[in-house]
Amino acid sequence: MFSMHYTMNHRYWTMLIAVCRVREPSRPTSIHEDARSTENTMSLHLKPDQSKSIATLAPLAALVVFAGLATASWPSAAQDETYTPEFTADKQLKLPHGKIWREWPFVGSLVTPNSLNDGEAPFPEHHVVYIDPVSWAHYKKTGTFRDGTVLAKELTLVRAPDGANENGSTDEVSGTGYFMGEYSGFEITIKSKELYPDEPGNWAYYTFGHHLEPYSGTAAKQPAEACNACHEASAAEDFVFSQFYPVLRATKPK
Ligand code: HEC
Repeated sequence: MFSMHYTMNHRYWTMLIAVCRVREPSRPTSIHEDARSTENTMSLHLKPDQSKSIATLAPLAALVVFAGLATASWPSAAQDETYTPEFTADKQLKLPHGKIWREWPFVGSLVTPNSLNDGEAPFPEHHVVYIDPVSWAHYKKTGTFRDGTVLAKELTLVRAPDGANENGSTDEVSGTGYFMGEYSGFEITIKSKELYPDEPGNWAYYTFGHHLEPYSGTAAKQPAEACNACHEASAAEDFVFSQFYPVLRATKPK
């Protein structure tokens, strides 16, 4: 990701420098020459009589390049996008469009392999938790979950090729352990006073299934006893299991 941004920025800068050079009024005869010297990057083929119109267009081109630069240096368009939960007429939550949570800030991850849970882990097996970007920005500043926070938890099975060890682990190049296989479940929790005035902490819980993709397209709100109660009893911070999320712990303002 980083290197892609670097490359894009580098390209934009190269273009910008080229445009500025073409524009330089004190060296009108060098236009052809300069253009040729940047041919590799820009594929510019100028005739001398085009110099005037290029000079006029240059400020505009520079503007376009700057606009591109601003976009290119933003980490990801998706991270800027506010997610608004969508519901069906009968109040079922719709699966977020484009599986957008996979592009949200990551907060933590753990693994409860079936092989260590009598073959039936309640949440099989790797868990990866994300927070929506707007609430992440709020958390960084305040160390609290704003009204409107959405946390997403996606599961994947442990990778289990033939020849896996008896405890379900595999021997891979980085060591023996539990590696990620296929996606195997998706859940969301949303905090909203307006939508859930009666839920403890105003948190509501939805599950789109514990199975391989495709997930269910919609999910009904779970009764508080099914989900919320365990969160209320055991989570470290406002119904959220921050004790397992190093990104939140490290970021929370002291
Ligand atoms: C027995 C306790 C328990 C129950 C019941 C439970 N959870 Fe959780 N939940 C956890 C724990 C522990 C975590 C921390 C991460 C992990 O282990 O996956 C968690 C994390 C989550 C997260 C990530 C954000 C957070 O709050 O930490 C979501 C979303 C979630 N659970 C949804 C649900 C849903 C939906 C249900 C009901 C279908 C449910 N949970 C029921 C224990 C529980």
